[in-house]
Amino acid sequence: MRKLGPIAVWLACATPAFAEAPAKEKEVWITIGTDALEPARASFRNQGLTLPAPALEKGGVAALRVRESHLEKLAEAMHDKLNRCAGFIAHDTEEKARAAVEGSSAPRSLASLVSYTVNNAPSVNAMLSGVQELNIRNTINSLSTNWTTRRYNLQSGADAATWLKSQWTTIANGRTDVSVAFFTHTWLQPSVVATITGTTHPNEVVVIGGHLDSINGSGSSYAAPGADDDASGVASLTEAFRVAMANGYKPARTVKFMAYAAEEVGLYGSSAIANWHRDNLVNVVGVLQLDMTNYKGSSYDFGMVTDNTNAEQNTFVTNLISTYQPGLTWTNISCGYGCSDHASWHSAGFPASMPFEATMSTDNPQIHTTGDTLTYMGGTAANSVKFAKLAVSFLGELAKGATTGNTPPPVDSGGGGGTVPTATFDATLKAPRCTTAGVGCDSGTLLNGRGGLGPEVNKPNTINASCADGASGTYHTDESNDRLKVATTDGTNLAAGKQVTVTATVWAYSTTADTLDLYYAANASSPTWTLIGSYKPSGTGARTISATYTLPSGSTQAVRARFRYNGTAGACSTGSYDDHDDLIFAVQ
Ligand code: BES
Ligand code: ZN
Repeated sequence: MRKLGPIAVWLACATPAFAEAPAKEKEVWITIGTDALEPARASFRNQGLTLPAPALEKGGVAALRVRESHLEKLAEAMHDKLNRCAGFIAHDTEEKARAAVEGSSAPRSLASLVSYTVNNAPSVNAMLSGVQELNIRNTINSLSTNWTTRRYNLQSGADAATWLKSQWTTIANGRTDVSVAFFTHTWLQPSVVATITGTTHPNEVVVIGGHLDSINGSGSSYAAPGADDDASGVASLTEAFRVAMANGYKPARTVKFMAYAAEEVGLYGSSAIANWHRDNLVNVVGVLQLDMTNYKGSSYDFGMVTDNTNAEQNTFVTNLISTYQPGLTWTNISCGYGCSDHASWHSAGFPASMPFEATMSTDNPQIHTTGDTLTYMGGTAANSVKFAKLAVSFLGELAKGATTGNTPPPVDSGGGGGTVPTATFDATLKAPRCTTAGVGCDSGTLLNGRGGLGPEVNKPNTINASCADGASGTYHTDESNDRLKVATTDGTNLAAGKQVTVTATVWAYSTTADTLDLYYAANASSPTWTLIGSYKPSGTGARTISATYTLPSGSTQAVRARFRYNGTAGACSTGSYDDHDDLIFAVQ
């Protein structure tokens, strides 16, 4: 009862079957940098409006509820009164807004999902030599002149998406491993997504994106050509997609090119997409955001955004610059809170990077005005060529695979080894098991859910059915442990004395009340559980939590994840929201 009680009562009071609810203005939750609160409040006051007080403030970020119709006024206030980049992020629920505040102040422990290697030069160089300024220029020109504005809630914004989808479909040229689709939203403009399915690692996804919408800070009736912001980013990634197709590129990992709707009003489109990937447990291994690529404002070729991005991946991106575009320069910059779509991916728990056209003080002064045109940028897309090339190298080195006539390099998955084998259910021991000693063992989807909640087949998936699961709550609202994986840190086969990483994918309900206890046992047939450690999720929803330990000797070993609501550490409990899952694996 503890979680559903209040909601059930509210429903009973609020929804008599046919009652006409009085038209109530929709409210949404936003998170915003606390430094922006006062200027935004002042701007609201000038317009005779009141900005509500934050419900929560922590670590420089505040969560508050605002009327949906005021969002646009807030965006305008941010653009006019502040350093443009002090933006805000909209969330569909209070819980998500609160989680974003907690998440941005909590230290992040994102598991490294891939090993960053630079070893695919023949294919990358083949694609690089095809990049053409004229193609980028043409795309910027079309996007910024065919429609007066690409605003997210106007028909012209939707028409621009339809045009882009048809351009991308032409580029895909009927390849059966490539698809182009809309990701629709609750507003008019859809996002556009082109997917190349990976040949050997289709479940690992590399994303390259930019935003399709544009805005004029003076209001919706003004023209918003958005040639730099962000036709240039979309045009750069369109050219990367084109050279990939023109060279018969087949990535090992799945690649998705994305043109997001509704960035300018609170990162709406990318939030919906990133959260969809998180909620569906999609393994997004890296995201590159291109927002404003065509204005040469600084002597540096790239400004690398350090906030709301992944430091390890940023280092990989700068290595790509020095390898594939030697002589070009970069410097670190800080964008501010949530200035572009990389922040949506980052807050959904995925590694994101954003190389930018300038430093924060030297960027294009015309953005969000009628003056953001190709003409203002000298009528050329020369600066964007660097970004299209960076996107190509990111693609070729993160998604691996090869272009026609080249040999694909090996693909390293987290820790350097080969592919981690997937377990199958062992009907005798009654839990997922890998019977031969490989570089690791992965439960795959077998553990997804808890007790009777969700698809967890063979529940409770504990050795000899030794520990049952709690049955309260709802699948993917309340706690579950959804996946368990072990893998050696050096990529060699599982053997006594080796260090291994255990990774649990859990569905967290609360960052304070939920705890993951991880255990190991040397003998799976008669397990004595040793605690590796107890861990709190860094946010709610799907989260991966990792820990390392040293393998003891024993030919058939196991790990256990216990994900609990309150309670204390212990290998088995009767908590009604607790999930217990085991994974058995052979050791050399
Ligand atoms: N491209 C800009 C962000 C930007 C502007 C980055 C200048 C670096 C320098 C982006 O489209 C934008 O305007 N974002 C909004 C934030 C959003 C949450 C409303 C902004 O910065 O106000
Ligand atoms: Zn932008």
